[in-house]
This record gives sequence, structure tokens and C-alpha cells, in this order.
Amino acid sequence: MSGSTPPAREGAPSEDNRPSPAGLKGRILSGIQPTGNIHLGNYLGAIRNWVGLQKDFECLFCIVDLHAITVWQDPQELTRTTREVAAAMIAAGIDPAANALFVQSHVPAHAQLAWVFNCVARLGWLNRMTQFKDKAGKNRENASAGLYVYPNLMAADILVYKATHVPVGEDQKQHLELARDIAQKFNNDYGVALFPQPEPVIRGPGMRVMSLRDGSKKMSKSDPSDFSRINMTDDAETIAGKVRKATTDPNPLPDSVAGLEGRAEAANLLNIYAALTDQTLEQAVAEQAGQQFSQFKARLTETAVAVLGPINAEMKRLMNDPAEIDRILAKGAAKANSIAAPVLREVYKTVGFLPAV
Ligand code: AMP
Ligand code: TRP
Repeated sequence: MSGSTPPAREGAPSEDNRPSPAGLKGRILSGIQPTGNIHLGNYLGAIRNWVGLQKDFECLFCIVDLHAITVWQDPQELTRTTREVAAAMIAAGIDPAANALFVQSHVPAHAQLAWVFNCVARLGWLNRMTQFKDKAGKNRENASAGLYVYPNLMAADILVYKATHVPVGEDQKQHLELARDIAQKFNNDYGVALFPQPEPVIRGPGMRVMSLRDGSKKMSKSDPSDFSRINMTDDAETIAGKVRKATTDPNPLPDSVAGLEGRAEAANLLNIYAALTDQTLEQAVAEQAGQQFSQFKARLTETAVAVLGPINAEMKRLMNDPAEIDRILAKGAAKANSIAAPVLREVYKTVGFLPAV
């Protein structure tokens, strides 16, 4: 039977919880893993982007702890980093009163819908996922089953809110495509129009922050060298030390973007500088043309501290009051649940878990 298409049947009743708040362009769902070392790449590549989307969209921001345990996480550390990521998002400007900021495991509908999607998605689809191949590596037999069905859970995160837009980085585009395929197959199999096709919101170019030690590698939470990244928890002195030690080359900065060809480290630092000062790369290059790295690094440090300092201070304040973070997350979960629970009920009626009338 596997892979066969069931006969279409009468559509389940549609409870109208499609997003249409006045003046907004749609509903956004995005997720971030609560793994430690949240860094400048996460800020410039994801969180800052989400902050900007709040004015145009109804937003749900999910800290995906169910996804995190697809690889081993120390329990106490997971609790701590979940709060840390929440604190970073609030400190960076996510407004938890206007939106929902919540923890994935606190809204049971994610896991419940993910099971249904485990039965909708085909093995062939999952076998094509490049992230699984990368993360499982050579020792595939020893990867968790959770890591394999990770994209089905991500589809549930999005579709349990009938989200219309999903901001994702390049690396997650394939998973979003899969979510669209799952939505369509579910709708086709059951003869309903229950799930919308979520659209990617791809962020602008230049938002890929590279390692401070090696301009050809992405800045990453898991890099063993702390000098490879600027953490959102770093204070001014630590930031200054890391920028000072950042890998460079012996030449002064070029006067055109073309002059960055073959100079990955210079390109990365200028990219970071451009993003932190809200300039294009062209503008930043023009501003810093001919500078020695020593001068440019001093300027970059000043800028990074000016942007990240206040965020860092607010994060620290929040982390000193974990009960307050937990209260904010509990409110977020209640809000998220009020949207997700009716959608799950609709799914349960459609599938036949609940009587349709
Ligand atoms: P991760 O750190 O892999 O959990 O990613 C969380 C979010 O930050 C995702 O939207 C990533 O695409 C984004 N992100 C992670 N690392 C970088 C980076 N070095 N540059 C830009 N964006 C990044
Ligand atoms: N898989 C995403 C990442 O690693 C995190 C994520 C989980 C997500 N669920 C999501 C992103 C839903 C967007 C929408 O970055």
C-alpha cells in the first residue's frame, strides 16, 4: 500500500482560523534551536530579520527544543540554553507581547501533527534531505530516528499555525519545500483545502557571517574555537579581543567590492561591518577604502560593541530573572496553543480521529 494514493473523500468542516489580521501581510512562523553559543551570525542572519518582520506580519517565534534533541543534549544545559535564546530574542527586539515567543515542546500540537505527517511524508522524500546526510555523516546507522524525521516536525511547526510565510536561511530551503509537499499531499489524500502553501521569506544577500578564524567556514555554534565567533553573550572586552585576533591578510582594504576577490577574511569583516552599520557592502568598502586592518578593526570593534552592548546588557538582566523568562514563554505557549489546537482538531476530524460532525 505504501505510496498509493487513497481515494478523495468529502472535505472536513473548515474552522476558519486562517490568518487575516487587518493590515498585516500574513502569518509568520520561524524556529531557532536552543543550542548554546548563540552568535553574531544568528543575530544578523536570523533574529534581526525577524525583528523587522514584526511590523508587517503576525509572528510566531518558536524555540525548537524537540528538534534540538535529535542529537544528544545535556538536560540542564538544554533548559539553560532555551532561556538564553529566549533572552537573546527579547533583548534583540522581539516583542513577546505583540507576538508569540514560545518553546516547541510546550505546545503539544507540534508533536501530534508531526506524527500524522510521519504517515504522510514518503521515505523517498526524506532520503533526499541533504541536512540529514550531513548531520548523520558516515555513521548513519547510529543517527537517531528523530534526526531522520526532523523535516516532518518542521513541517508540523509551520502548518499547525497555517503559517503563510517562513523566514529561512539557504540551508533550510529544502525542508520548507518538503513542508509544501506534505501540505499538498495531505490536502490531496483527504480531499481538503486545509493547509496553505507556506512561502519562503529569503533574507537579503550578504547575511552569511563567516568564522573569524577562517573566512571560508560559516560562523557556527558548534565550532570548537570560541575565537571563531562573537557570541551574543560576549562583553565589550571579549568582543574587542576576538576582533583583534580575527584572521586577516597583509594588505590594506580595497577600494572596490571586486578587490575583495580571493580575500575571504577581509570580505567577511567588511560584510559584518556593513550589516552592523546598515550599509550595503559597496558603501562599507567605499568608507573603509585603503585602511589598514588595525584601524578598521578598531572601528569594527566600536561598532560591534555599540550594537551588541545594549543587547548583551538586556540579555544579562533577563537571565538574572529566569522566572520572568518562564512567564513570558508560558504566555507565548498559551497564545500559540490557542491557534494550534483548533487546527489540530480540524486535522483529527479530517483523518477520522474525531467524528467530523
Ligand atoms: P542555527 O545556529 O543553525 O541553529 O541557526 C539559527 C538561525 O541562524 C538560522 O536561521 C540560520 O540560518 C542562521 N544562521 C546560523 N549561522 C549563521 C551564519 N553564520 N550566518 C548567517 N546566518 C546564520
Ligand atoms: N530547522 C531550523 C534550523 O535548524 C529550525 C526550525 C525548526 C525552523 N522548525 C522551524 C525554521 C520552522 C523555520 C520554521 O534552523
